[in-house]
Amino acid sequence: MTPVKKTARPAVPRKAKAAKARPAPSAAAAKPEEPPKEMLTVYIMGKAHSVPADATIMGAIEYAGYQIKRGAGCREGFCGACATVYRMPNDYRIYTGLACTTLVKEGMWLSQLPAIPSQKPVYDLETLKADVTAFQRLYPEVFRCVACNTCTKACPQDLEVMDYIQAAKRGDVEKVMDLSFDCLSCGMCAIRCPAEIVHFNVGILGRRLYGRYLSKKSPELDKRLKDVKDKKYDKTYRELMGMKKDELKKKYYARDTE
Ligand code: SF4
Ligand code: SF4
Ligand code: FES
Repeated sequence: MTPVKKTARPAVPRKAKAAKARPAPSAAAAKPEEPPKEMLTVYIMGKAHSVPADATIMGAIEYAGYQIKRGAGCREGFCGACATVYRMPNDYRIYTGLACTTLVKEGMWLSQLPAIPSQKPVYDLETLKADVTAFQRLYPEVFRCVACNTCTKACPQDLEVMDYIQAAKRGDVEKVMDLSFDCLSCGMCAIRCPAEIVHFNVGILGRRLYGRYLSKKSPELDKRLKDVKDKKYDKTYRELMGMKKDELKKKYYARDTE
């Protein structure tokens, strides 16, 4: 998915961008009643498994009999919990992807990473300024960036990751916010970075600084908050809370999206 060029910041934040490929949820999450038409071989934790050719990595792992207890959340390319690295036969490169949206390929040798270790300083936003000093204080390692662009190539969201790190170095908080807006915190940029930067936390800092100090006041948000306080949506909440899971799911997928 190519990042959309934006001209002006909308008053209300955009919805998160989904990851690239979005196959039907759990294409092969469980063994289907009908045997799959086509199978291929993938290597999971070093062992060969025959899995349906149309499975996502996550579906294939579960088809092979593993239970995913960590490293799965939304299963639809939004939460960033399912970072996966893989290699292909006769190819020296290491690839990254989200297990829930990346389809398996013949000979894929994969490992899912249930968590990416990352440092996250504790800070009080009220003591920071919306300029370069915040990044200098909390994430000085951004100044070690060698502009190799590996982070950008590793990003399953196709974000301009290196550019938002460069923006942090310049103290351009708005640019950091804008370019990192659709970050899922999957951590794949961080595991590839030779400067050992934790990009997603730098992006979070940029978005927090922007929200606290630079964003324009939103009349739409004020109106929506007033509506909530006036209990305008209470009846709808009650209806939703009383719905069965299937009904709720149907409604969710039929919703209006931007
Ligand atoms: S910027 Fe990094 S953490 Fe965020 S989605 Fe891209 S690879 Fe994942
Ligand atoms: S991978 Fe690290 S060093 Fe390379 S461009 Fe990205 S932030 Fe800079
Ligand atoms: S499980 Fe949420 S992005 Fe894959």
